[in-house]
Amino acid sequence: MDYDLAPPVAAALHAAISRSDTGYAPASAELGRAYAGFASRRWGWEVDPLGVTSVTDVGVGVIEVLRQRLRPGDVIAISPPVYPPFFDWAPEASARLLSVPLTGGCLDLAALERAFATHPAAYILSNPHNPVGRVHTFDELAALVRLARLYGVLLISDEIHAPLVLPGAVFTPLLSVPGAASVAVAVVSASKAFNLAGLKCAAIVTGSPRMASLVARMPAEVHERTGHLGVLASIAAFTAGDSWLDALLGTLAARRAQLADLLATRMPHVRWNPPEATYLAWLDCSAWGPDEVPAARFLQEGRVAVEPGTRFGAAGAGFVRLNFATSPEILDEAVSRMAAVPGL
Ligand SMILES: Cc1ncc(COP(=O)(O)O)c(C=O)c1O
Repeated sequence: MDYDLAPPVAAALHAAISRSDTGYAPASAELGRAYAGFASRRWGWEVDPLGVTSVTDVGVGVIEVLRQRLRPGDVIAISPPVYPPFFDWAPEASARLLSVPLTGGCLDLAALERAFATHPAAYILSNPHNPVGRVHTFDELAALVRLARLYGVLLISDEIHAPLVLPGAVFTPLLSVPGAASVAVAVVSASKAFNLAGLKCAAIVTGSPRMASLVARMPAEVHERTGHLGVLASIAAFTAGDSWLDALLGTLAARRAQLADLLATRMPHVRWNPPEATYLAWLDCSAWGPDEVPAARFLQEGRVAVEPGTRFGAAGAGFVRLNFATSPEILDEAVSRMAAVPGL
C-alpha cells in the first residue's frame, strides 16, 4: 500500500530502534494476547492466546503445518485463481497439487466434495480470497468444514487479508465455524493490513488439542525465526491499530468506488466484481481477445505494472490484478494510461 504506517506501529518501531532492541524475538505470550483481543473486537471471535504461535510469515506457517501432516505422495488441494505461492507451497512441502477452481468467484462446493472424496491431505483456503476479493460466507465455510470432517481433510485457512474486509461484507474466521477447530488451523498476520510484510511476523492459530499437537511437534527453531521488529509492530497493530485500520478501510472503499467509476467511463469493456475485501481488483480484460496478454501490454505501452492473471492459475488468462491502495491521483493516472492502450 502507498500509505504511511499506523502511528502506534511506527512508534513501537522507533522505540525499539532507540533502545537498540534489534536482536532475536524473545518467547512471549504478548502476540497471542494482542491477536486474541483484535479477533474479539473485530469479529467477536474468541481466540485462546495460548493457541497463537508466531512464525516467520504466512508462507512459512502454511509449509510448517503441512510438513507435520504430510506423508510421501500426499496431495494438497487449492482453488485457483489464487495467490501464486499457493502453487509452490505444496511442492515445497513435497506434496502434489490438486486444483479445484472457483466457480463464478466462489468456492465450488460440489467440486470440492468430489476432490475431498479422493482424500487429499489438506486444503489451503484463502479467506478472504486473493485475487478475487471474495469474503466466503458462513454457510460456505460451514459446508467446507462438513466436507473436511467427512473426508478427513486438514483445512489451512490463510487469513492474512481478514483485517481488510471492506464495509458491506462480514468476515467469518474459519475456526469460529462450529466443528472447525478439530480439523482446521488459521494462519494470520498483521502484515497485509498494516503494511508490515518485510518485518517477518505471522502466527498459526489453533483451537483444539488435536491441531495444537501439530504445532507442538514443530522444532523450536520454527518459532524462533520470527522477526523481532515484526512481533513488536504486530503487537502494536493488534492492540492499538483499530482506529487507523477503520480509516484505512474507509479510504480503500473510496478507492474501490473511484475505480468503479473510472472503469465504467474509460474502460467499459473491462468486467469485474468489486472486491468485498482487500485492495486488489481482479479485472477481466478478455474482451481484448484470446491472444492478448493484457498485463504485458499495460506495462509496455501504458507503463502500468499489474499482475498477469495467469500467475494465479490457468483460469486467470485474460485477467490482470490491479492494486488500488494508492492515492486518487495515481489511480486516476493508472486507469487513464491503461485506457490509452489501443484495442480495449
Ligand atoms: C493470500 C496471501 N497469503 C499470503 C501472503 C504473503 O504472506 P507472507 O509474506 O506473510 O508469507 C499474501 C501476500 O500478498 C497473500 O495475499
